[in-house]
Amino acid sequence: MEKERKLIIAGNWKMNKTVAEALDLVADIKRDLREVKEVDIVVCPPFTALSEVSKAILNTNLRLGAQNMNENNFGAYTGEIAAGMLKEFSVRFVILGHSERRQYQKETDELIAKKALAVHTASLKPIVCVGETLTEREAGKTEKVLQTQVRGSLSTLSKGQMEETILAYEPVWAIGTGKTATTNQAQEAHLFIRRLLLDMFGETVARRVRIQYGGSVKPSNARDLMSQPDVDGALVGGASLEARSFADIIKNSI
Ligand code: PGA
Repeated sequence: MEKERKLIIAGNWKMNKTVAEALDLVADIKRDLREVKEVDIVVCPPFTALSEVSKAILNTNLRLGAQNMNENNFGAYTGEIAAGMLKEFSVRFVILGHSERRQYQKETDELIAKKALAVHTASLKPIVCVGETLTEREAGKTEKVLQTQVRGSLSTLSKGQMEETILAYEPVWAIGTGKTATTNQAQEAHLFIRRLLLDMFGETVARRVRIQYGGSVKPSNARDLMSQPDVDGALVGGASLEARSFADIIKNSI
């Protein structure tokens, strides 16, 4: 499948995997996906496994991502992690504004925008998540919500920074529920987001930014989702916790 933008598929392990489990998983992923060059592959373990996973994927086609980052460089922020600490482990990507953090940690678009700028300042790349809840979709508010989140979460970025940012459209009702957006629903939302980017950052940026789909992506639906013109990859939760399903998602997407 020939795509305009290179696919980027990331596994978000969330709060799963001890160091030993993470090393087992990544050893299998590494073996299964050794030959893949067509897709940028990212694994996002919990902070505690970054160090070991980083060593395990040295000189491979796998890249490392973190699941969050603080917007400050250092200081009295108990329990938080700064960019410089992630860079010690060759982290390249940082997931920001995941719906679970928006929900449980009450992260706002304004905070996510600050974090996105901090991620770029450290020469890392943010994966900024947006998406509507079921109530919002059913009330016909999907576009309104996406517009608020996209404008708010990216407001601090220059054109150059935006071009290096990855967006993830993750309808909240599809995350961890086994319900996936239909290919039409996904394409519609992605196109809407790309039009917002066009309006905010101009044509070149809008054309280059990669937008991942997230929400119950699995081997059986990956191909159809990735075949949509504005779907440029996936952010995978549950199915990334097992090497076989993560590898199959990637192989089926090529
Ligand atoms: P899921 O999670 O694949 O388990 O639905 C996706 C995500 O939260 O990024």
